[in-house]
Amino acid sequence: MNDHRDAEASRLTIDYRNTMAAAVGPAHGVTDAMIDEIAPVIAEHHARLNAEHAAGGQRWMDLPSDTALVSEIETFAAEARARYQDFILVGIGGSSLGSIATVQALTHPFRNVLPAEMRGGPRFFVLDNPDPEKVAATLETVDLGSTLVNVVTKSGQTAETMANFLAVRQALESAVGPERARQQIVATTDPAEGLLRALANQEGYRTFPVPPGVDGRMTVLSAVGLLPAAICGCDIGGLLTGARAMRARTATADVRENPAYLLAALCILADTRLGKSMLVTMPYADALFGLSDWFRQLWAESLGKRLSLDNEVVSVGQTPIKALGAIDQHSQIQLYTEGPNDKLISLIAVAKYRAGVTIESVPDGIHDLDYLSGAELGQLLQREQLATAWALAEAQRPNFTIGVPTIDAAILGELYYLYELQTVMGGALLNVNPFGQPGVEAGKNATYALMGREGYENLRVELLESTRTENAYQLTSS
Ligand code: PA5
Repeated sequence: MNDHRDAEASRLTIDYRNTMAAAVGPAHGVTDAMIDEIAPVIAEHHARLNAEHAAGGQRWMDLPSDTALVSEIETFAAEARARYQDFILVGIGGSSLGSIATVQALTHPFRNVLPAEMRGGPRFFVLDNPDPEKVAATLETVDLGSTLVNVVTKSGQTAETMANFLAVRQALESAVGPERARQQIVATTDPAEGLLRALANQEGYRTFPVPPGVDGRMTVLSAVGLLPAAICGCDIGGLLTGARAMRARTATADVRENPAYLLAALCILADTRLGKSMLVTMPYADALFGLSDWFRQLWAESLGKRLSLDNEVVSVGQTPIKALGAIDQHSQIQLYTEGPNDKLISLIAVAKYRAGVTIESVPDGIHDLDYLSGAELGQLLQREQLATAWALAEAQRPNFTIGVPTIDAAILGELYYLYELQTVMGGALLNVNPFGQPGVEAGKNATYALMGREGYENLRVELLESTRTENAYQLTSS
C-alpha cells in the first residue's frame, strides 16, 4: 500500500482551450488580453503571499513538508489497523470532507463490505450530520468493543460534532466501560484551546494537533485528513509527496506556467467579466466525487464573502457545483448545454483507470451494439469526457479539463495543493479574505441559543419571539 514516490515531479495537466474566446466566442470566453492584464496582478499577489509565508503566515503551505507527522501517524495507524474492526470519524465540514475524499479516492469503493484481510484497516464510518437515524444506525452496525473513534474539531466546540461525539462516547462507555472507552478515543483538535482540548486533557485521550493558523477547510494535509486516511490504509506519505510536487510547480509567478494561478485567473475572469457565476467540477471517476465535494466547500466558504478587504459590501463568490461524469450527462448536462450560459465547467479526465473491464462480445443479431464489441469501459468513459468537452464548447459553454495520469496518492496530493492555492489566489483577485467564515456565525449562534447554551439567553428570547408571531405565509397540516 505504501508505495512512496521518490520523484517529486508534478504529473497533472490542464487543457483550457475551451475556456478561451477562440473556442466559445468573445461573449463567453477568456481572451489572451484578459490573461495579460491579470498577469501582473497575480505576480504581485504571489510576492505578497510568499512574503506573508516568510513572516509566519499562510501556514497551510507548510503542511506538505511535515514528514515527522507522517511517521507519527503511520505508527499510530498501523496499531489501529491491527487492533480495530471499525473506525468512526466524528467531524463536519473541513474536519471530515478531506478524509472522505481521500478514502474514497484511494481505497476500494466497497471496502466496508470486503473481508478484513482485503480491506487494509477497519471499516470506516463518518458521523458529520447530527442525524439521529444515521447515528443510531452507525452505533447499531459497529462492534463497539472493537471500534476506534476519532473526533475532529479545530474549534473544539462545533455543536454537530460535539453532540455526535457525546452520543458515541456514551454508547462506547456503556459497551466497554469508561476506562476502555477512553483508550478507544483519539481527538484531533487545537493543541491548546477549546472544549475538546479541555476534555481530552481531563480524560487522557490520545491527541493529534490541528495546526494553528490553518483554516479547517485547508487541513486535509494535516493530522485532520491524514490520520483517518492512514487508518484506512491510504498512502499518506504519497499524498504529501504529490502536494510538494505541486508546491514546487507553483513556485512561479507566471500565470501561464503556474496551474493554480491559471485556474484562479480563468475562474475569476469567467465569473467577474463573463457572467459565469457558477463553477462545476465534474470528474470522470467515481473515486473523485468526494474531491469535488471537498473543493465545493473550499471554494464556497473561502470566496463567498460580503465584505472586501477594504470593508466595502461586495457580496462576491462563484457558486461551486459538484457533478459526476458520465452520470450527470444524463442529468445536469442538458441544463449546462442549453440553459443559462452562466457556468464554467471543469472536467477531470483520467488517462488510466486502476481496473479494466472489456466487453468481449455482444449478442448476435443486434448490430447496433456492435460498436461496443471489444470496447473497454474506461475507454468509453474517457471518450465521453472528450465528447462532453467538445459538445459544451460547440454550445459556447466554457470548460477546461484537468488531466491526471491515474488516481493515486501523489496525484491526489497534487490536486489538494493545487485547489488550495487556486482558492487563496482567487480570494486575492476578488479582494476578499479567503480565510474565516463569518457568514455561518449567525446560524451557529442561533442554534446555540435555541439549544439553551449559556451566554445566548437574549438571542433565544428574540428567536422564540419571532416564531410566535402570527405568520400568514405558512401552511399547516389539517
Ligand atoms: O473550513 C472551516 O473552517 C469550517 O468549515 C470548519 O471546518 C467546520 O465549521 C468545522 O469546524 P471545527 O473543525 O471547528 O469543528
